[in-house]
Amino acid sequence: MIDIHCHVLPGIDDGSRNVEMSLKMLRESGRQGVTWMCFTPHFYADMTDPDRFLKKRDEAAILLQQHMEQAGEPFPRFVLGSEVHYYRGIGKSEDIRKLCIGRSNFFLLEPPFRTWSSTFLEDVRTLRDELDLKVIIAHIERYFDQDKHLVQALLDEPGIYIQTNGESLLDRKTKKKVLNLIKDGKIQFLGSDCHNMEYRTPNLEEAGWVIEDKLGPIVLERIENNSEALIKEAAQL
Ligand SMILES: [Fe+2]
Repeated sequence: MIDIHCHVLPGIDDGSRNVEMSLKMLRESGRQGVTWMCFTPHFYADMTDPDRFLKKRDEAAILLQQHMEQAGEPFPRFVLGSEVHYYRGIGKSEDIRKLCIGRSNFFLLEPPFRTWSSTFLEDVRTLRDELDLKVIIAHIERYFDQDKHLVQALLDEPGIYIQTNGESLLDRKTKKKVLNLIKDGKIQFLGSDCHNMEYRTPNLEEAGWVIEDKLGPIVLERIENNSEALIKEAAQL
């Protein structure tokens, strides 16, 4: 399996607190059958800028890589990305494209915490049309309470991709709706969004079982194929 959304890099956001925890998360992901991971630390434009963020992110990745090599275990491979929190006018920020996943044009976007407006949808379209980005909307299940028309418009928007967290398939409140969206091809990506080893842990194996059990292996394979295409582009395989 491939995990396209996680907070495994140490000491950079509210995810892994240190290298030891990162190694545990990697080890657990590998045990669950994850072969590739996109490390996607949070980016907030009001707290930093892309260059400062990337410097910090790359330092964290080098540190982790050194410890992975020292450990000498078969860990999942990784590419670097980010989870960019939405801000008004994001589509006009040319340097935001530096925050794509690896060398791909895939861009993991975290929608606004507050009530959505049509401006959000317009900005997403601008990211796609003017910056030529393949926008992936992070953890769609968190926004099921937002304006129904806006959520539906986003789900139906061509060239916009949708991601769900493993947890949404393990939670009775969201499971049914998420399964339907996966079945209909409206959700294309799955990520663990794991932050630690206590309560937001790697969970793709269990999430995969739910998809396989309820929708069949071909549907799970479809999601894996999407992630594989992303990794090929991101890691230039
Ligand atoms: Fe996240």
